[in-house]
Amino acid sequence: MAQRDGSHGYPPDYLGADIRAGRCGAVINVVDASAVNELQRIARQESRLGIPLLVGRDVIHGFRTILPIPLGQAATWNPGLVRAGARMAAEEAAAAGVNWTFAPMLDITRDPRWGRIAESLGEDPYLASRLGEAMIRGFQGKELAEPDALAACAKHIAGYGAVEGGRDYAATSIPEIDLRNVYLPPFQAAVRCGVATMMPSFSELNGVPATANRFLLTQVLREEWGFDGVVVSDWDSVCQLCVHGTAGDKAHAALLAVTAGTDMEMTGDAYNEHLGELVALGTLDPCTVDEAVARILRLKFRLGLFDARRSPAKGLPARPSRAAIETARLAAEQSVVLLKNNGPVLPLSIEQLDTVAVIGPLADAPWEQLGTWVFDGDPGETVTPLCAIESLAGGHLKVRHVPAMVHSRGRAGPGFDEAVETARNSDVVLLFLGEEAILSGEAHCRADIGLPGDQLELVRQLHSAGKPVVAVIMAGRPLALTQVLDHVDAVLFAWHPGTMGGQAIAELLFGLRCPSGKLPVTFPRMVGQVPIYYSQKNTGKPPSPAEVVHIDDIDPQAAQTSLGMVSFHLDAGYRPLFPFGFGLSYTQFHYGDIFVRPLEVSPGERITIGAEVTNAGAVAGEEVVQLYVRDVVGSVTRPVRELKGFLRVQLEPGEKRRVEFALDTDALAFHGADLRWAAEPGEFRAWIGGDSDAELGVNFRLSGTPAMAGVTS
Ligand code: GLC
Repeated sequence: MAQRDGSHGYPPDYLGADIRAGRCGAVINVVDASAVNELQRIARQESRLGIPLLVGRDVIHGFRTILPIPLGQAATWNPGLVRAGARMAAEEAAAAGVNWTFAPMLDITRDPRWGRIAESLGEDPYLASRLGEAMIRGFQGKELAEPDALAACAKHIAGYGAVEGGRDYAATSIPEIDLRNVYLPPFQAAVRCGVATMMPSFSELNGVPATANRFLLTQVLREEWGFDGVVVSDWDSVCQLCVHGTAGDKAHAALLAVTAGTDMEMTGDAYNEHLGELVALGTLDPCTVDEAVARILRLKFRLGLFDARRSPAKGLPARPSRAAIETARLAAEQSVVLLKNNGPVLPLSIEQLDTVAVIGPLADAPWEQLGTWVFDGDPGETVTPLCAIESLAGGHLKVRHVPAMVHSRGRAGPGFDEAVETARNSDVVLLFLGEEAILSGEAHCRADIGLPGDQLELVRQLHSAGKPVVAVIMAGRPLALTQVLDHVDAVLFAWHPGTMGGQAIAELLFGLRCPSGKLPVTFPRMVGQVPIYYSQKNTGKPPSPAEVVHIDDIDPQAAQTSLGMVSFHLDAGYRPLFPFGFGLSYTQFHYGDIFVRPLEVSPGERITIGAEVTNAGAVAGEEVVQLYVRDVVGSVTRPVRELKGFLRVQLEPGEKRRVEFALDTDALAFHGADLRWAAEPGEFRAWIGGDSDAELGVNFRLSGTPAMAGVTS
């Protein structure tokens, strides 16, 4: 029931004794195949029962070959590709002897200040559920017993993405109705698709830390969902119950955690030191311990650790496979979101250009573009945008590179003057901006989500050079780009795109590929709008353009007694900078002929909603067709729209495609005021389009007699 840390030195030297004594059934952060093999040998041959070890590692978005950060992978809206990426990562990690990964992270978040938004699959439960399922299937493969399968871990149950102030580890307070309608669905989807393990969050939920939260770990996870896998605590979070102030000492912490449903303690010693005495004292029912041990043993059998197929670990080959490189490239390509393309200035034509200026701190930063949670990534394998552009340019194009800043937090200096001079003497400026990897990820939260350092000043100065400016932004979160947009002609948002990010970006810039990414999270105009997300409630006084007044437009002469009297900010309005699901292409997609059948559906029946999508442009492209639905009247208020389906389609110029979504009426269900999960009869509205602002709509009805909500009989 104890997982020990093997992060330093030669782990057999200091973990061997605990393994022989049965105080270590799992290790974390041992990725040297020979060390893993020796640890497994000790466990099999020198411990009392010969039980093999779980070997865990955070394989979050790749192992040695790094994929885009999960938020970037979510921007692909491509479950098949996300699954392929996880499969590739599992093959590399398993070669090093790893058999357990602590991914996918399924925390829904609407707060870009939170550093871990980078690891998330975005703001929407439906999208996160579908992509989380894909990651789990990729990691776990066809059979957990396959030699290259990893046990996946859905984390961090639950509500971690709602930390106060976007500050990591802070408290979360979430009404159960929101917990069940927004934050829990991705975890339930994970259980349904067979995830092997779960991890509670560091944070408290409604006053009870998740690690000791019986409601989450036993009532919901075991009793309601029937989860029979292993629950592992987060790093030392059992002992942290004393710090939270719910446990008086480590014995009390161990008792609270194990009785709530935490089976294994990651890198703490509360279980090893106190569970035995708690049982001996009669304080802890031995059956509780037996059940936890049984779940851990069952996982080890499911992973095939007792048979020889998994040992010994062979180690990684000298170079990544071509398949791994191509998976990373395709994932990077489809993760990039085209946010602006005035002109259109993109794609660039190598033949029509003479000189390009490649400027900025992230043009040639092999480590930074890999992003957060990259323990085993090899920056030597990274293809940076500068390398890829120089390779594509060949002898046709002069490429002038000026970093201008030493890193993303850099201050204005002589590099700025050199950058402006280079821009003046070039045909186009390719400006690589954003965040270094360390500025997002665990504990790396920001109160201001603008470009770090003096990057905005660099943008302004380059704008003055009078040449077209294409900004390529790498970051681990949505950034407030309002002021950047005013000074550039085009924006590609690349998240942290991983090993092959530069190749993908260069091919998109020069039109060898067409951008197809869509935002998995809303981009605010400024941080003061947070939380801002598409599936908001309508409120009793929803804003509209006619009623919203901007702070700069208030007439000082008028005898103002009130402004707007609807839900908005005087200095930001109510619209985001870019909505959920948004992303441009080098072509244009038109939607028409929406239909729904039947117009009235009975509970338990299926409804089909569809539309025709046309590539109205001159180049082939991929579009993510999205279906949104609104329950117009509910026993509790319902979001103004919710994603209920999406499909990525490839269309040639002029090609039309009829896209249909089949929904069960269960897809209309939600947890109501009594927390009962049900679809309620009444009017519904549906939209199909290329983002969450889709306007092409249709109405339908779910038959039955709506309960007169709020009216007691
Ligand atoms: C970290 C993270 C968790 C990770 C674990 C092991 O603190 O919260 O997501 O899997 O520790 O590294």
